[in-house]
Amino acid sequence: MLKDKIEALKAEIASLKAQKADEVEALRIKYLSKKGEVSALFEEFKTVTPELKRELGQKLNELKSLAQDRIAELKAMSAAANAQNREAIDVSRPATSAPIGGRHPISIVKNEIVDIFGRLGFTVAEGPEVEDDWHVFTALNFPPEHPARDMQDTFFINTNPDILLRTHTSSVQVREMERQKPPIRAVFPGRVFRNEAISARAHCIFHQVEGLYIAKNVSFADLKQVLLYFAKEMFGSNVEIRLRPSYFPFTEPSAEMDVSCTLCGGKGCAVCKGSGWLEILGCGMVDPAVLENNGIDPKEYSGYAFGMGVERIAMLRYGVDDIRNFFENDVRFLQQFQSAL
Ligand code: DAH
Repeated sequence: MLKDKIEALKAEIASLKAQKADEVEALRIKYLSKKGEVSALFEEFKTVTPELKRELGQKLNELKSLAQDRIAELKAMSAAANAQNREAIDVSRPATSAPIGGRHPISIVKNEIVDIFGRLGFTVAEGPEVEDDWHVFTALNFPPEHPARDMQDTFFINTNPDILLRTHTSSVQVREMERQKPPIRAVFPGRVFRNEAISARAHCIFHQVEGLYIAKNVSFADLKQVLLYFAKEMFGSNVEIRLRPSYFPFTEPSAEMDVSCTLCGGKGCAVCKGSGWLEILGCGMVDPAVLENNGIDPKEYSGYAFGMGVERIAMLRYGVDDIRNFFENDVRFLQQFQSAL
C-alpha cells in the first residue's frame, strides 16, 4: 500500500544521520533526485484510485518537504562541524615553545677546564668512584696510619676499610700510570666524596679535575707555565698567579696556587678576605716514591700533578656564594648559565 510506504519512508528520513558533506549529498541523491525514493512514490501515486488521490497527494507532499528539510538540516550541521574542525587546527596560531634544558654550570666549567688543557695536548681519562685503599691512598704515598689520611674524611663501603668512595681524583693518576707507560699527559675529571658537614663552602659530594704529566726532564717551571696559561684562559688575561709552598704526600715539592681576586682584581675585598688572592688548586712535582709505586723509574722520568675543585672555580667564575646552589637544581638558578661547551 502506498500509504504504508509513505509512512515508512517518513520515519526513515526523520532519523537520517550524516556528518560529512559528501554523505549528505549521497542522501539527497538517494531520496530526492529524479530516480530517488520519494520520486518513485510520486510515480506510484499516478496509479492510485481517484478517491484516495486527495489524501495521499497531501501525504506525499508532506513527505517531500520533510525530506528537503532534513537534508538541508544535515547540510548545515556538517558545514558547522567542518568550520569547528578548521579552528582546532588553526595553522596561523603561534606555536607554544617548549622550554629546553641547559647544561649544568658544573658541567660547563668542567668541560671548559678539560678544553683548556686539551689545547695543551692533555688527553682525558676517568676512573671509578668506588675505589680501593691502594689507588686513593697507599700508591699515592700515604703511609698506613699516617695523619695525612685524616686530611680527607673518607666514606667507607660496608665497613670494609679497603673499599671506599674516592676522596680525590688523584686516584686516577694511579690508574693511568697502570694503564700506560710515560710519557703521560692527561686530565681526569670526576666526582669525589668526603664525609664533611655540608655548609655554604663545603659539600660531601663535589667535583675535581686532576692533571698529570710524566715525561723526561719535566720541571717545576713547566708546571708553573701550564698553570699560568690555564688561569688566564679561565679567568681572563689580566689574572696573576702565586704559588705557595704546601704539603701533599704524593708531590714533592708541593704548592697551592692562588689567582688574583677575580672580584677586586687584587685590591682586597670580602670575597678574598682582604688578601687580594684566591686559592684555586694544589700541585707539585710527582713524588719519586709515587713513580716507584707505579713501576716508573724516577731516575729516568719526572712529572708534575695538580688537582682543582670544579665547584670552587665555578663559584669564582660566576660569583656564586653558596656551593649548595649547585646541588639543589633549582631551575631559576640553573637557567642563568649558558655555554657553547
Ligand atoms: N688531591 C688533592 C686534594 O684533593 C689536590 C691535589 C694536590 C692534587 C696536589 C694533585 C696535587 O695532583 O699535586 O686536595
